[in-house]
Parts: sequence; C-alpha cells; structure tokens
Amino acid sequence: MKKSTYESIYSTEALSSLEDHYGSGSGLYKMWASPHSIITAILFGWEKSDHPAQLHHAWDIKKFKSLNEAIKQSVREALKLLELPNNVDNPNILEAGCGIGGCTTQLAKENPHITVTGISLIQKQIEIANKLKRTRQTNSARFLVGNYLRMPIASDTYNGIFAIETFCHIPPHEKPSLFEEMFRVLKPECKLVIFDGYPIREPQGSEKILFEKFKRGWTLPEMITPFTLTTYAQKAGFKVISVKDITPRVIDSTPYVYRNASILRQIIKAIRFLDDRKVKLPYVDNLFKSLGFSTKNAEIFIEACQAGKPLVESGLGKYYMHVLEKPNPSQRYKNKTYETFYPKLKRIDC
Ligand SMILES: C[S@@+](CC[C@H](N)C(=O)[O-])C[C@H]1O[C@@H](n2cnc3c(N)ncnc32)[C@H](O)[C@@H]1O
Repeated sequence: MKKSTYESIYSTEALSSLEDHYGSGSGLYKMWASPHSIITAILFGWEKSDHPAQLHHAWDIKKFKSLNEAIKQSVREALKLLELPNNVDNPNILEAGCGIGGCTTQLAKENPHITVTGISLIQKQIEIANKLKRTRQTNSARFLVGNYLRMPIASDTYNGIFAIETFCHIPPHEKPSLFEEMFRVLKPECKLVIFDGYPIREPQGSEKILFEKFKRGWTLPEMITPFTLTTYAQKAGFKVISVKDITPRVIDSTPYVYRNASILRQIIKAIRFLDDRKVKLPYVDNLFKSLGFSTKNAEIFIEACQAGKPLVESGLGKYYMHVLEKPNPSQRYKNKTYETFYPKLKRIDC
C-alpha cells in the first residue's frame, strides 16, 4: 500500500488529493448530521438544509438532543477557550481550514459582533461556504481561498484563531512554518485553539495497516504526536496555556462514523449491483453525484472511517486540545526572575 498521501502541502499532489477529498468529495460529508439534515442536504443541497456543514467530531453526543447540536458544540467550546478580550467591540477571528464554512457561519450567526474569516485551500469549499453565508445571513463571515501557511494578511490582525481537525494535513517538516505564520497574524496576548486527532505512539502489529488506511482515506500525510506539536508551537514563540487529552469528549462520535460508513458501503454495493445488471433507476445518478461517490477517493474514504474505531479502541488514536498564547513582547519575561534565565551568572544591580 502507498504510504503517505503527499510530502508537502505546497505540492500539486497535495492539492489534487485534497481537492478530490474535499472538493468533489464534499458530498460524502452530508452523511455527518442528524437524519433530517442528511436527507434535506442530499435532496436540496447544503445551502437549503439546516445541516451543520461541519467536518469534525461531535462533542458529548449523549448530552445533546441531536447529533447536529453535538457537532455544533465544538465551535462553542473553541470560542470559550479563545477568551476574547472584553475591551474589544468587534473582535476579529480566523478559522484556519474552514471546510465548507459550517463553523465560521455558525460562529458569526451566534455572535454577530464578531467578524470571522474562514480560509481553505479548496476553491469548491469556499464556493459552498459563500452560498451558506448568503442563505444563513451571516454578514460578518468572510471567506478566503488560500494556504494558511502563507496568508495575504497583515501581522497582528486576529484576536483569536481556531483550527479544528485541519493541522493534521500539514506534513511534520512544514509544521514549524505553520506555527510561525499563526504567530505572525495573531495579536499579542491572543490565543490559538487547536482541536485535532493524533497517534500517540508508533502503530504496532495489525494497527499498521489500519493506520495507513486511515491516513489514505482522510488524505493525511505523515502524522506527529500532540507532544511534538506542542514543541513546534513553543519554538515559534507560543506560550502553552493548556494541552489536554479530550478523547472522552468526542469518543462517542466513532461508532456513528463507523455506522454511517457501513451505510455508505451498502449504498455503493447496491448501486454497483444495479449497474452490473444495466438497471437504471431514476434519480440514482443524481444521488451518486450528490453524495460524492463519483470521486476516486470514495471507497478509501469509507475504509478510513471504519479504521478509526479500532485505532481509538486500541489506544493509538487520541484527540487533543491545545490552547496557545502569543505573549506580549514587553511582558514575555515579566514573571521570570533574572536567575531563572541566567542561573549561572551573578546578578549585578546597577
Ligand atoms: C477536516 S476539514 C475541517 C473543516 C472545518 N474546520 C470543520 O471543522 O468543519 C479540514 C480543512 O482544512 C483545510 N486545509 C488543509 N490544509 C490547509 C492549508 N494549508 N491551508 C488552508 N486550508 C487547509 C482543508 O481544505 C479543509 O477545508
């Protein structure tokens, strides 16, 4: 099996596989919602449905009355952790890797005083995001097509940045420049909140094949542990506020993802069966297209959805939260004594 999907986020290989996964394949994510939203999104499109349009794990599923609400909870959790300053009337927030705009539009709708910018590498996602913005009437949401490793944004712009299940797409050797760019566009004393999945050790035995299937289907390059990620962030200058294993908050998503992948697999089987017998049913082609099955990645995507559950159960896969702060340069050393920095030098008071 081919090992990782791409070696650089700037490569044409990365762009074409991410385009296939998130562009033409976006339809597959229609399955990630409460049943009525799945049906309306398939029949009428994203923008005419109340689908959360978010491509990440759901939080505390058992606490909420619907899967939609549990999915939408993660943006609310991220916003709380950003601890936006009270003295700013119109904070400016960035969602790095905004998918089809579900999180950005939700945050803007629930907090109209906040300007939220979403950026994604994939043009087709931003087209969907702009349609959502119009139908959901979220004027304070903005969208950009671009690479968040090099943004056309002035330094010290944002009062907060959140990144949900997106930094996993950046190969290890490009993580240092990712954090340098986040650091650059964030205002001092403001925070970067990251929610993401990680392997916490090397895969062993049968985990190895499952892990390769997982990376291939989710279009992921080589992955690092949450601890290595923390080191990269610190090297870029971030102060670590919190690094926490929050697997228990999202773990109940994996059986749902597994079940939905099994349903998709059965749909593909049934369509193949009919196709082989040259049976053409009305609307089946449309359904096929609307769900993104026409993409070459559909089947490996389904395999990846099914690989996630055993990897979490064996303890290899964990979900972490990082809260990082860009220190104010003038306060960076405020709480540290001279002796902590120069333990071997004698202090001279002049
Ligand atoms: C799993 S989706 C998550 C989307 C969104 N955060 C959500 O939770 O709904 C990952 C997103 O990251 C984007 N992405 C990955 N690498 C990127 C990069 N270097 N620059 C901009 N966007 C990127 C992908 O295009 C995709 O939209």
